[in-house]
Amino acid sequence: MALFNIFKKEKTAGAAVPQHIAIIMDGNGRWAKKRGLPRSAGHAVGAETFRTIATYCKDIGVKYFTVYAFSTENWKRPQDEVNALMDLFRKYLVEAAETMAEKNIAVRVLGDLSVLPEDIQALIRDCDKIADQLEDPAVACLCINYGGRDEIKNAVRAIAQKVQEGALTPEDISEQTITQHLYTAGMPDPDLIIRPSGEIRISNFLLWQSAYAEYYFTDILWPDFKPEDLDRAIEEFHRRSRRFGGV
Ligand code: FPP
Repeated sequence: MALFNIFKKEKTAGAAVPQHIAIIMDGNGRWAKKRGLPRSAGHAVGAETFRTIATYCKDIGVKYFTVYAFSTENWKRPQDEVNALMDLFRKYLVEAAETMAEKNIAVRVLGDLSVLPEDIQALIRDCDKIADQLEDPAVACLCINYGGRDEIKNAVRAIAQKVQEGALTPEDISEQTITQHLYTAGMPDPDLIIRPSGEIRISNFLLWQSAYAEYYFTDILWPDFKPEDLDRAIEEFHRRSRRFGGV
């Protein structure tokens, strides 16, 4: 693997890696079903894939890595599946707090966190405190209880509140104002958004931020996704010509 990575790094040398890669981690349930395992087993392997790909992103120089881990709609899933996902988040946040400084990766959680179990909110606060101390870290964001429309609604509410208080006028509101009130405030927009598992839709992920993102779809199920698959997505990204509305 190490040799492969070095080869890949040399191969892509000169072509800048995307600054921000985001992934919809889809296909865990189907991966488990194919093996006669419970869905939670697919999520557990998916969480390992997340660790591998987050580390790989850091190694190849991707500054921001964002994953869709739990949507505002995922509460509708069977309670045992929701519990299993919450346990994976707990386990990872404990581990992140212990290793973030050594790896210089700031782990951030994005979403409406107010309804998460109190112990998970406390773990997120612990991670935030450590992340705030890091110098120029790579950033790994987990979107939990995240919905793109919910995020925009919350931003609109916060801006309306400021207008009501007289801190802003309606004319002051620019695209930048909205950007600054999203969970991703201060982060660059994603350059590349990857969705594995053969589904070809956005599913309420980073709606505002994805205005100029390149999308990459693959049939591979998330638990099977490997660093080589990320390389393929980045190679495809480099073949595309991004004009941001220009010519
Ligand atoms: C969608 O696939 C996936 C999710 C709703 C959960 C994703 C969460 C993880 C991979 C765990 C993340 C944990 C950490 C610590 C980052 P699906 O289960 O709906 O797949 P299906 O469409 O095949 O049923």
